[in-house]
Amino acid sequence: MSSRKPIIAGNWKLNKNLKETLAFLAEIDGKLPSEDKVEVAIAAPAMYLIPLVHHRGNNPLKVSAENVYFENSGAFTGETSPKALADEGIEYSIIGHSERREYFHETDEDINKKAHALFAAGVTPILCCGETLETFEAGKTAEWVSGQIEAGLKGLTAEQVSSMVIAYEPIWAIGTGKTATAEIADETCGVVRSVVEKLYGKNVSEAVRIQYGGSVKPETVEELMSKENIDGALVGGASLQAASFLGLLDIY
Ligand code: G3P
Repeated sequence: MSSRKPIIAGNWKLNKNLKETLAFLAEIDGKLPSEDKVEVAIAAPAMYLIPLVHHRGNNPLKVSAENVYFENSGAFTGETSPKALADEGIEYSIIGHSERREYFHETDEDINKKAHALFAAGVTPILCCGETLETFEAGKTAEWVSGQIEAGLKGLTAEQVSSMVIAYEPIWAIGTGKTATAEIADETCGVVRSVVEKLYGKNVSEAVRIQYGGSVKPETVEELMSKENIDGALVGGASLQAASFLGLLDIY
C-alpha cells in the first residue's frame, strides 16, 4: 500500500437509465467511506452525468465522463466538450479506454489531444492503457503499454501528470472474469510508473495515481490494492449494482 490516496472508480459503460441511476444513488447514500481514505467516482454515459452531479447530495462521490472530444465548440455532431464537463461540475473524464480505441478507432494522438483539452478546461483525465491477449502472450506488454503512455502524455506538464490518473487495463481481463494476478497488475503498473519517471522524474512518478482495471470484484480488490504500484481500480461489471460497488469499498 502506497501513500497515494487510492481512487476507486466505477465505469458503467453503456448501461443504466435515469431511474436506475437515481436508485443507485439512493442505495449508496450515506454509505461511502470517508474522502480522507479513498476517492470514489462513477463514470457514466454523458446523459446521466448531470443527474449524478445534481443528486449525489453530500456523498463524497466524484463524477466522470466515459469519453470526451478535444474541441469545445463547433460543428462536431454528437460530441461532448471538456468545457461542458467543467461547466457542469464533472471532475474526471476517462480517455483512451480500450473499447474506444477498438470500436471507435481512437488513436494515441486523439487521446493526447483529449488530455490537453481536459486540462485546459479544468477536468482531470483518467488515461487508459492496456494490451491484448496476443501482446501479453508474446511478452510485449511493457513495450506496448510504455508506447501508449509516452504518446498519451506527450506535451503535458509535470504538474498536470502529477495530478492525473492512469488506468492499466489489460484487454484480456476486461469483462472476462480473468483478473490479472495482483503480481502481474502490480508489475505493469510499475512499468507505467517507470515511464512517468523517465519522462518527468521521481517526484511526478511518485505522485501520479495508477489504477488497475479488468474484472475487479469485491473479492479481489483487497489483494490488488495492497500492491505498491496500484492506487485504485477502474471497475466495470462490479460497479453496476450498488451492493457490489459498496463491496469494493469495504476495505476502506
Ligand atoms: O473500465 C473498466 C473496465 O473496462 C473493466 O471492466 O467489467 O472487467 O470490470 P470489468
